[in-house]
Amino acid sequence: MINNLLLHACRREPTERTPVWLMRQAGRYLPEYRAIRAKTDFLTLCKTPELAAEVTIQPVEILGVDAAIVFSDILLVPEAMGMELVLDESTGPRFITPVRTRNDVTALTVKDPQTSLRFVLETIERTKRALNGRVPIIGFCGSPWTLAAYMLEGKGTKDFHSAKRMMLDDPDTVTALLEKLSLMVRLHLEAQIAAGVDIVQIFDTWGGILSPDHYKKWSLDLMFKVVSSMQKNGTPVILFSKGANHCLKEIAEIGADVVSIDWTIDIADVCNLIGDKVAIQGNLDPSVLFASPERIRQEVRSILRKYGNRSGHIFNLGHGIAPDVPVEHARSLVRSVKEDSPVYHKGL
Ligand code: CP3
Repeated sequence: MINNLLLHACRREPTERTPVWLMRQAGRYLPEYRAIRAKTDFLTLCKTPELAAEVTIQPVEILGVDAAIVFSDILLVPEAMGMELVLDESTGPRFITPVRTRNDVTALTVKDPQTSLRFVLETIERTKRALNGRVPIIGFCGSPWTLAAYMLEGKGTKDFHSAKRMMLDDPDTVTALLEKLSLMVRLHLEAQIAAGVDIVQIFDTWGGILSPDHYKKWSLDLMFKVVSSMQKNGTPVILFSKGANHCLKEIAEIGADVVSIDWTIDIADVCNLIGDKVAIQGNLDPSVLFASPERIRQEVRSILRKYGNRSGHIFNLGHGIAPDVPVEHARSLVRSVKEDSPVYHKGL
């Protein structure tokens, strides 16, 4: 590996500077991505390894980030299990028939990702050949709860009322759903590792919509089971539970190597709380990227300063990059991390 900064940081080993990548770094803010999307719909793009590998590599070349994240989507796992997925340009991805009953859960099947998600594995193989060790590749999945919330609701919503009602009124059905998802997610992560990813990230985007007790029972416990049962062969695991800052101590105990944090908490406090157990990823507010490059640089410096002279920091946003961010602003973030972080790594 020519650039293994990220792998070292995941293991809290010293590096000459802080590595940086951005959640949702392959996407609509890049004109090169939009050019491909103008000819291909989103789901076809995900399922065409040649094109998916091309957009996976775009941010490595355009921004100079220290990792590539496989171009795919968390919702392709429920699709592989039998849910019909569509992407409306206006409302985002939607399942035609949400899960509502025990029979709906029974109808879902755990399928071998080697066949049902073959295109993801082929995208990884192609990306690996094309990158040839330039930067590590990150594979990913949604957490069981985050996938279940989407499947119960049918689409992304603000409050997830249907998902929460089901969780409370029909816990056995939701438990059965989460168990199936946990197995499928584990198999998918293992298959991505076997295909060649260097790191995996679990996106628990909707963990933070739950109260602390419910979060532990319906989200964190299942991620613990996935992480502790999967064959990872030393592959670092990053866990991103957005909005779950109330539970960071427990999150740091489940066996993930890196905890990714959103922007609503001070990274210095997170270091003090869990910095001796895990590496920390984050935590620039994604909206900062709409400000001027000079202001972006100040905000980057502030996070670097708060993290200070320790290894084990991966610079990232606190959530995905917005589709209308100017590319030049994303570039200046990356440049700033590269130029302003080495001072914190001297003598480590
Ligand atoms: O660059 C990368 O990070 C890799 C690709 C990636 C996508 N989705 C591509 C995508 C990754 C890692 C995801 C994860 C994902 N997908 C999450 C977890 C991360 C997060 O942002 O919270 C979630 C919740 C989803 C589900 C999803 N997919 C939603 C809610 C949407 C619509 C909102 C949106 O951003 O458009 C998508 C569509 C999607 N996934 C796009 C991309 C590039 C946009 C599709 C397009 O090109 O029109």
